[in-house]
Amino acid sequence: MNTIITGLQWGDEGKGKIVDYLTETADVVIRGQGGNNAGHTVITEGTKYVLHLLPSGILWDDKTNIIGNGVVLDPIGLVEEIVRIEGQGIAITPDKLLISDRTHVVLPFHKELDAAREASLGDQKIGTTKRGIGPAYADKINRCGLRMADLLDRGFATAQITRRVADANEVLKRYDLTIFDATQVLEEVYTAFERLRPHITNTIPILHSAWKSGKNLLFEGAQGTLLDIDFGTYPFVTSSNTTAGGSCTGSGLPPTAIDAVIGVCKAYTTRVGSGPFPTGDQGLSDYLHGLGREFGATTGRPRGCGWLDTVLLRFACMVNGVTGLAVTNVDGLDAYETLQICTAYNIDGDIHALPPADRASWDRALPVYESMPGWQCDTTACTSYEQLPPQAKSYLSRLGHLCDAPIAFVGVGPDRKQTLVVP
Ligand code: GDP
Ligand code: IMO
Ligand code: MG
Repeated sequence: MNTIITGLQWGDEGKGKIVDYLTETADVVIRGQGGNNAGHTVITEGTKYVLHLLPSGILWDDKTNIIGNGVVLDPIGLVEEIVRIEGQGIAITPDKLLISDRTHVVLPFHKELDAAREASLGDQKIGTTKRGIGPAYADKINRCGLRMADLLDRGFATAQITRRVADANEVLKRYDLTIFDATQVLEEVYTAFERLRPHITNTIPILHSAWKSGKNLLFEGAQGTLLDIDFGTYPFVTSSNTTAGGSCTGSGLPPTAIDAVIGVCKAYTTRVGSGPFPTGDQGLSDYLHGLGREFGATTGRPRGCGWLDTVLLRFACMVNGVTGLAVTNVDGLDAYETLQICTAYNIDGDIHALPPADRASWDRALPVYESMPGWQCDTTACTSYEQLPPQAKSYLSRLGHLCDAPIAFVGVGPDRKQTLVVP
């Protein structure tokens, strides 16, 4: 059984937790896109792990983890992450972590170019994580990027990096920013690269033989559908295809190998960074932040919070081909008396069941709400779907109906154990 786990909102839906839960029955966990802009939280037996580039399967002893070709990999950031996770008692060996030789490299100046571009956009800034993701993907598409395999040839990489540093410095000088010294960049990158070298390989035949021998493959999506470069709230998006298809192009496993797509969403909506957010609600944000919830795993920024938006979810279920929903953070709504669900957008008097494409319509989209009674009791101790209060079950069944997708899992707390399987 080969399953894609994909985010249906603006990221941080709880993908890490669902991937971790499903890893028990998987053999290989694969990241196919994004970079260390991602922050996936897994909590098990009281220990919290935050993963940025490492697939969540790394927390299990006997699973193979692959960083696929579609990822942009910051070698310095990855080594820092490996050291941190090893410090938490998790071994990261070459047989547990494989890195595709086709994976593009995020270099130190990509991060600076990311920050420079954000600064130049002023109040139109994207609100990026400043991890160099956009500039690294731009180099890939511009056909001037560097891949992990290129770093194996130090002579070639030196010439390439020296040329790219000179180009980047031209841009940085224009903004009066610190410029880079190619020799120093090479030294920093190669120090990190030496730690990663034993992990680099051609992952495609390995993935194919796992598939052909009937192993269970689990794809760990990063970001979410509304951050997808094609389907998201452009230009307030990330620079990769975060939707299900990205798992195939980002790994070399064909679409015919995929059996299921689990779409992960929160029982409400959150967004970090700039861009439209029709159901954003200050009262709900203040409430959730007051509970110490909804602060970003990567940057620590408070996430904007809002009501469940089924216009987004309906669209996300379509473009991802969702076969089952995982609704997390249901417990976040435990204390609310009345809940709102957005069923459509009103744009200049016209009712829309699907999101618009253009920026101006997004800015004018007003949510059409229906209200539902809250359950006003603690769900965090529920150990089965049946134990959920009837109002919570009604809310979930309305969600599934409005999105035209069945609910497969429900999250009632951050711990691995607080995941309920819907019969
Ligand atoms: P990801 O990027 O999609 O993996 O999600 P993040 O880890 O960035 O953010 C999700 C947050 O919600 C994390 O703090 C998780 O520990 C937490 N979380 C996930 N599922 C649940 C849930 O069902 N209930 C609660 N209370 N927290 C959850
Ligand atoms: P996970 O995998 C939430 C957002 C940033 C910004 C936009 C572009 O944890 O769900 P980028 O640095 O990618 O160029 O930023 O995308 N963003 C995320 N928001 N969760 C993420 O990842 C995100 N990765 C990027 O906040 O709005
Ligand atoms: Mg996250």
